[in-house]
Amino acid sequence: MSRSLKVSASILSSNFTKLGDEIKKCEDAGVDMIHVDVMDGHFVPNITIGQVIVEAIRPITKLPIDTHLMIENPWNYIDDFCKVGSDIVAVHAECYGERRAACREVNQYPKEVDNIDADKAKKDIARIQGHGKKAFMVLNPGTPVCLDDVLDDLDGILIMSVNPGFSKQKFILDVLEKIKELRPKFKGAISIDGGVNAQTAPLAVEAGVDILATASYFFGSTDQKQVVTSLKALGTS
Ligand code: DX5
Ligand code: ZN
Repeated sequence: MSRSLKVSASILSSNFTKLGDEIKKCEDAGVDMIHVDVMDGHFVPNITIGQVIVEAIRPITKLPIDTHLMIENPWNYIDDFCKVGSDIVAVHAECYGERRAACREVNQYPKEVDNIDADKAKKDIARIQGHGKKAFMVLNPGTPVCLDDVLDDLDGILIMSVNPGFSKQKFILDVLEKIKELRPKFKGAISIDGGVNAQTAPLAVEAGVDILATASYFFGSTDQKQVVTSLKALGTS
């Protein structure tokens, strides 16, 4: 088997006082894209960074910017992120369907749905693609593969392997089944995000992913080039 795997480094675990240097380190290590974790304190319990950071890093790197929007009402921000330089805009399926009873209140996490309103989702997918950008839909671990009606529209699907909100969490093995289910029927890119490391990445690759997003494994390593090389090598074994 030979397949081209991509590594997307999440700056959530970078040193924000030296962000320019950290982006340069990503480039030197052979990373394929920069993953930006946008959290609003509502869709997830944490608050991180927004458009200003995408705007700040856009002029200093040619790497694609992979923007993961963990926010309520993503439709209000799609144009902004596209305009400041995101190349991929990933929106959560949990913003396009009726939430399960257990996560309807503002402070109940993780957000989960059983299906989505395809028309609503298609509108935002088209909006992203209208800017010439790639549209990804993200599934939280507890949300099933409920994307049949939008599969032909999407450029990619991001499978969360942790409940979103924080880096350094443990990979949830159950989500591998969703990748196996999707792979034969989806032609676009499948990405995985959360708890990716030397032990879990081979499982995700075997299940069929194309993109590995990593924050703590990459930024926590003293040999980042080796991390990227070994992750990419999984595509050729
Ligand atoms: C989680 C974020 C992930 C996270 C990954 O909400 O979407 O991208 O930064 O962190 P690690 O790789 O440390 O699990
Ligand atoms: Zn992410």
